[in-house]
Amino acid sequence: DPALLADGELVFRKCKACHQLGKRAKNRAGPVLNGIVGAPAGGVEGFKYSRALMAQAEDGLIWTPQTLDAFLAAPRSFMKGTKMGFSGLKSDAEIKAVIAYLNSFPAP
Ligand code: HEM
Repeated sequence: DPALLADGELVFRKCKACHQLGKRAKNRAGPVLNGIVGAPAGGVEGFKYSRALMAQAEDGLIWTPQTLDAFLAAPRSFMKGTKMGFSGLKSDAEIKAVIAYLNSFPAP
């Protein structure tokens, strides 16, 4: 749905201070997010995650649309101790749109 992707691109502006997407994406304050939908947490090469994130990764956390929804709504309550300094997205519509946008960037 092109309208949903366009909305997601606008929402992703809130993530861009820390995250990059696309062919030339690099890790910054946050990891590159290509291919993140469906991927195991904590798997981006060369990024130093928090202990909190690595503990959930070891417990098998996968970034499905459902877990992304919970994380993006309230990062620090979904993952106590995360170093993602972001307060969360306010609306379900924003979350749905940004997940659709993320899903349009495949893993390399
Ligand atoms: C981690 C998405 C905003 C900094 C993550 C992860 C996702 C994500 C899915 C987990 C990656 C993985 O397991 O490989 C998003 C989205 C955002 C957003 C969609 C906007 C809605 C931000 C902002 C910052 C940030 C604004 C910086 C202020 C980080 C950091 C991590 C992270 C540092 C690693 C967390 C840790 O190791 O505990 N983000 N993020 N993110 N993000 Fe974000």
